[in-house]
Amino acid sequence: TYVIAEPCIDVVDRACVEECPVDCIYEGDRALYIQPDECVDCGACEPVCPVEAIYYEDDLPAQWSVFTDDNARFFAEPLPGAVTALDSPGGAAKLGRVGVDTPLVARHPAP
Ligand code: F3S
Ligand code: F3S
Repeated sequence: TYVIAEPCIDVVDRACVEECPVDCIYEGDRALYIQPDECVDCGACEPVCPVEAIYYEDDLPAQWSVFTDDNARFFAEPLPGAVTALDSPGGAAKLGRVGVDTPLVARHPAP
């Protein structure tokens, strides 16, 4: 899968969303997250991010390695305030902006 890492936080450019053919890039609050089971590894999102936040999982810089699990956690575990996990929503446009982040992103210092 591809992964969105720390540089997305508080930037949220959304250029990546327009490129994804399977609409698997979901908006939290301060960052976006790639659904790892829905991503088909096409790589179209990676070059359009102006802050280079997106990487193929094997190419993720070591300091951001926690973001692989964190992107997955956005879907696999109930988000703060939710009872059920998002799981595989099957399309970010129809789900809309979630408005909540994983604890890792939520506690990231504000810019
Ligand atoms: Fe974030 Fe870059 Fe997409 S800033 S919203 S990963 S284009
Ligand atoms: Fe979409 Fe990027 Fe995966 S464009 S299919 S999230 S590699």
